Amino acid sequence: MFAKIIINYFAIVMLIVYEVDCRDRFPCKFDSSCVCVYTEKTLLRVDCAGKNITVIPLFPGNVENVSLANNRIQSVENGVFKYNSQLLFLDLSKNEIYQLASESFQGLFNLQTLIINNNNISSTVSQSNVVFEPLVALRYLDMKNNSNTGFAFNVSSLTNLETLKIDFVDGETYFGTEYKALRNLTNLDLSGYSGHCLMKILTPGTFEYLSNVQHLDLSKCRINFISSGAFKNLSYLDFLDLSDNRCLEFTGIINVTNDLPSTSIKVLRINKIHQTFALNTELLKCHIKNLRNTNIIEIHLDSNRLQLVEPGVLKMLPKTLKRVSIADNQFTYGEYLLDMFSVSVDDVNISYMGMSHYLKDMDEQCDTISLGGSSCGREPDIDQQSIKEINKTDSLQTYVDDQFIPIFIPHQLKRIHFRQCKVRYYFPKLSLSNNLLEYIDASFNTFYDWRGPILNLKHLKFLDLSNNFCSNVSKIFFIGGPNLTTLLVQNNLLGFVLPDDHTGETFAALTILKTLNLADNRIPNLPVTIFKSQKNLRTLNLSGNMLENVNFEMIHMTKLSNIDISDNRLSLLEVSFTKQLDDLTKHVRHLTVDMSGNPIKCTCDSIDFIKWLTTTKVVLLYKFQQECSSMKMYLNDSLTVYDQLRKKCSSYATTIVAVASWVVIFAVAIIGGLLYRYRWKIRYLYYIVKSKHQGYIKPMEVDNDYLYDAFISYADDDDMFVYSKFLKHVEEEGHIICCVHKRDFIPGKEIATNITSAIHNSRKTVVVMSHNFLASRLVFV
Ligand SMILES: *[C@@H]1O[C@H](CO)[C@@H](O)[C@H](O)[C@H]1NC(C)=O
Ligand SMILES: *[C@@H]1O[C@H](CO)[C@@H](O)[C@H](O)[C@H]1NC(C)=O
Ligand SMILES: *[C@@H]1O[C@H](CO)[C@@H](O)[C@H](O)[C@H]1NC(C)=O
Ligand SMILES: *[C@@H]1O[C@H](CO)[C@@H](O)[C@H](O)[C@H]1NC(C)=O
Ligand SMILES: *[C@@H]1O[C@H](CO)[C@@H](O)[C@H](O)[C@H]1NC(C)=O
Ligand SMILES: *[C@@H]1O[C@H](CO)[C@@H](O)[C@H](O)[C@H]1NC(C)=O
Ligand SMILES: *[C@@H]1O[C@H](CO)[C@@H](O)[C@H](O)[C@H]1NC(C)=O
Ligand SMILES: *[C@@H]1O[C@H](CO)[C@@H](O)[C@H](O)[C@H]1NC(C)=O
Ligand SMILES: *[C@@H]1O[C@H](CO)[C@@H](O)[C@H](O)[C@H]1NC(C)=O
Ligand SMILES: *[C@@H]1O[C@H](CO)[C@@H](O)[C@H](O)[C@H]1NC(C)=O
Ligand SMILES: *[C@@H]1O[C@H](CO)[C@@H](O)[C@H](O)[C@H]1NC(C)=O
Ligand SMILES: *[C@@H]1O[C@H](CO)[C@@H](O)[C@H](O)[C@H]1NC(C)=O
Repeated sequence: MFAKIIINYFAIVMLIVYEVDCRDRFPCKFDSSCVCVYTEKTLLRVDCAGKNITVIPLFPGNVENVSLANNRIQSVENGVFKYNSQLLFLDLSKNEIYQLASESFQGLFNLQTLIINNNNISSTVSQSNVVFEPLVALRYLDMKNNSNTGFAFNVSSLTNLETLKIDFVDGETYFGTEYKALRNLTNLDLSGYSGHCLMKILTPGTFEYLSNVQHLDLSKCRINFISSGAFKNLSYLDFLDLSDNRCLEFTGIINVTNDLPSTSIKVLRINKIHQTFALNTELLKCHIKNLRNTNIIEIHLDSNRLQLVEPGVLKMLPKTLKRVSIADNQFTYGEYLLDMFSVSVDDVNISYMGMSHYLKDMDEQCDTISLGGSSCGREPDIDQQSIKEINKTDSLQTYVDDQFIPIFIPHQLKRIHFRQCKVRYYFPKLSLSNNLLEYIDASFNTFYDWRGPILNLKHLKFLDLSNNFCSNVSKIFFIGGPNLTTLLVQNNLLGFVLPDDHTGETFAALTILKTLNLADNRIPNLPVTIFKSQKNLRTLNLSGNMLENVNFEMIHMTKLSNIDISDNRLSLLEVSFTKQLDDLTKHVRHLTVDMSGNPIKCTCDSIDFIKWLTTTKVVLLYKFQQECSSMKMYLNDSLTVYDQLRKKCSSYATTIVAVASWVVIFAVAIIGGLLYRYRWKIRYLYYIVKSKHQGYIKPMEVDNDYLYDAFISYADDDDMFVYSKFLKHVEEEGHIICCVHKRDFIPGKEIATNITSAIHNSRKTVVVMSHNFLASRLVFV
């Protein structure tokens, strides 16, 4: 009974384990080099990518998803998928397939995605009519970069097709009447970037039967000429990419912009429609004047050698336009800038201005087609509205005084990308017109000195001034942008100025800053109060500097969750800093600190720091790669490091105590000896000093304990002197009572007793030192 329960229990456990195993990947039965996974519906997902497979294996009936990409399959045999009616996804890309048989895809009537790009398939008439016939559910077909001669199959049965990516070669590929049946085909990708595309001329017939296409990619298709009406009937077209057709030029798109009003165009990409080293170009009103009648939102005109824009062009742009990309051009200042106020654009990309190009970038070969190409010319700008508008603007309100240079910003503009424009300036005092700017990327330029201030950036949230070789930032530079939340200034030279900002004024205005990147700025040290105003900081990056010590205050940054101080010169974190970190963990649950790449020391000096590592709640990133420079140990094992250090340092401490006590004992002995040796001298000195201080000054106290004030000891031969001079003087004038043996000794008493009692009863003893005294043998001492 009991055994049965146990067996049941084990069975259940085994089952659970098995179930868990099912979810995991395992080698497939039909080909052990492939990896199988069960899906939720217990169908198989098979991954055979990159396994040197040459022949497609027979898959079981329950496969749903098969990848055979990157193998060496040369052909798809007839009927190889005939049992795979559940297959939804089949990837055969990057093989060496050179032909498809008429029944290659037989049985795949549920297949939704077929990817056979990057093979070597070319169509031959015999099978091209039927090979896709079974794929009635197909929605996505990618067959790009196959044979150089184009690749056209009869697609009339793919009525559910939504996305078609195909090579196009003039004369070989047609979008014939059978495409009329593909009512769901909305995405057509012919781009030469991912396959072969050669379509010299676009005529109204080219896309005649693709009337439902919305997304059309014709980039790098070597288009030379587009005749009028080519896009006219694509009424659902909302994305058109004509980039990298370098023979088109701006005149070549006149027929396009003329067609676009009858489409639903939202995004137009006409990047690089000029040769890489062509003469500089000018965009004219006649090139784009019909765009006025579209609802276009986004235009890309990158890499067009664009130098000038005819005045009035910006007014041709529709009010719906929000994003303009004119990167990698060569703009010069011109009158056209006055039109700025008429645009509604909120995002402009003018990065990479004047960027140098790859010299070997080959020019595209252009056919000289003489179809009577009508170019167009400049037209006078009749209405001077733009200039009136600038007069109208109230932007000069913010004009503070003569020292400030006014900068006019289009009213609606929110984002400027001005990266790598080879601009070398300092920032003088600037005053911006009223604006809504939120985002400025001016990185990779040479704004080497940020004096400022730049006033009126009230809405600015993001500022990227990284990689600008800036070595000087004034304390008022940021005052114009109090709403900044992200400031990226990495890779400058701010280490020259920030250490001197002891009052923390530089960043003082940025009270709601959340992200501050000061990496790679050669900062040797930071003042304690440098970040005093950054209460809302979440991410602080100080990596790649030269900090040997960090002690700035951050206890007020109660939201700080990310500190990067990697790649500095820190050997430890001081207690004051680690304490702040610990205090911060009370507010922030997951505080991470990256200290990697620092020469962390594991010595007795840093034992407190190592101990902190073992106990703190702060998450130290990359601890496992962090080696102590002094001990060949990794910090992720900081407990062991700490234990070892403790042992090492405690023995160290005993040694110190022992040595110190020996030194003390030795010193005491020496001093004692010296004192003993010179005790009399010292005593003498003591009395000398004492008497100097009090001897004569202190009046003699009357002390009644003594009978006499002084006992006079003298030689008898000096009687005369003692009586007639000394006593007279001392007793009569000085009122000092003396004891003289002739007068005061008690007769009959032993002389020694007399002397003793006389000395006892006298406060002092006075010796009259004379030749007689020294000569006499009987002296009353
Ligand atoms: C595939 O074969 C090539 C040579 O034929 C070999 O170098 C490569 O390692 C093989 N790849 C795998 C995944 O077996
Ligand atoms: C099949 O797997 C690929 C990745 O191998 C994945 O991208 C695709 O979405 C999957 N398709 C289905 C229908 O599960
Ligand atoms: C592609 O197929 C053609 C013949 O159809 C052949 O000449 C050529 O070498 C093949 N290319 C590759 C890369 O296999
Ligand atoms: C494509 O196949 C259909 C029938 O499946 C046929 O009617 C049509 O003529 C074929 N188209 C071409 C161009 O061969
Ligand atoms: C096209 O798509 C719609 C919905 O997306 C679907 O109902 C229809 O069956 C699809 N096929 C054809 C041929 O319209
Ligand atoms: C097209 O395929 C060839 C090999 O057949 C390959 O060298 C080339 O890189 C591929 N082109 C693209 C854009 O993938
Ligand atoms: C475009 O559509 C109109 C009517 O919708 C039709 O008359 C015209 O022939 C079409 N043009 C082309 C080139 O298909
Ligand atoms: C700006 O344009 C350049 C050149 O086309 C591009 O590389 C970059 O990604 C664009 N920047 C943004 C933010 O779109
Ligand atoms: C525009 O198309 C018309 C007619 O298709 C053609 O005559 C003209 O040359 C084209 N214009 C340009 C600039 O290609
Ligand atoms: C703009 O205003 C200035 C002075 O306010 C005036 O001299 C100038 O003529 C005005 N320009 C136009 C085009 O109105
Ligand atoms: C900018 O900050 C000010 C206070 O300095 C605030 O009143 C204003 O609402 C902020 N504006 C934006 C767009 O965040
Ligand atoms: C830095 O800028 C301040 C003004 O903000 C200026 O007084 C100082 O001379 C500049 N220092 C250097 C080295 O250019």
